[in-house]
Amino acid sequence: MHDEAFEPFFDEGLITEIVRPIKSGKEASVHLCRANPSTTGETLAALKVYHPLDRRNFHDEAIYRDGEWIKERRVRVALEKKTRFGREVQGGIWLSREWETLHALTDAGADVPRPIHRTDDAILMTYVGDEDDAAPQLRSYRPERDEAEALFRQVVRNVEVMLGANVIHGDLSPYNILVWEGIATIIDLPQAMDPRKNQHAEELLRRDVERVVEHFRRLGVGTGAGRLAADLWVAWTFADLVPGDLSS
Ligand SMILES: Nc1ncnc2c1ncn2[C@@H]1O[C@H](COP(=O)(O)OP(=O)(O)OP(=O)(O)O)[C@@H](O)[C@H]1O
Ligand SMILES: [Mg+2]
Repeated sequence: MHDEAFEPFFDEGLITEIVRPIKSGKEASVHLCRANPSTTGETLAALKVYHPLDRRNFHDEAIYRDGEWIKERRVRVALEKKTRFGREVQGGIWLSREWETLHALTDAGADVPRPIHRTDDAILMTYVGDEDDAAPQLRSYRPERDEAEALFRQVVRNVEVMLGANVIHGDLSPYNILVWEGIATIIDLPQAMDPRKNQHAEELLRRDVERVVEHFRRLGVGTGAGRLAADLWVAWTFADLVPGDLSS
């Protein structure tokens, strides 16, 4: 257990109990916590604890961090040489990116968990699900056709809202979309990137959109979405994204 990772959240009076682990993934383990409503506004919350550095696999850093310049020379060199300090910085960059992106997207009105508090190791955010069950991932959810259609529109609207806020998820898939009471929530954003800076943005957007379209196609919806990624990219390029336009 990552006892030290939980402690600051107890000490700050944000959580009162670790109810159970929800899931351990590649980068992190997520726990259901009982939250203190007076400090968090919630009765339950999800605590995402990033794995210790040696257990993490940092995706394809060069692609995601393309176009981002690190001012401090000492840090830049450590990152390039992948020293221990460099890896620590790297770990911090991923967690910070997820934290900042959750904030920006919550403000932009996207359906993402609301971030509550962070440390160097963990992010506390709103929980999707109830006391008995965490929300299933879209990949294992079997909606009726009408619901599938509504979920598809929601996910596309979210991609539009994200783009409007200059965010591309970068690892969007039926694994990183949770479904609860008819609402699709987008999660897992450490690799998110800014299309104004990253020269791989169009390609990453296309991959995100195609994975989603492909999944919904198997559920029998969104069959006319072949050009969706291209249309989204063009709309973003010309700064005339109107959320809801391409999803309706
Ligand atoms: N806010 C949340 N509410 C409910 N469940 C959550 C929440 N955040 C994450 N989970 C659960 O924990 C899993 C892992 O979270 P996340 O995808 O953020 O981490 P990860 O380590 O990158 O996982 P993976 O390697 O599986 O992509 C999710 O697929 C989901 O089942
Ligand atoms: Mg994930």
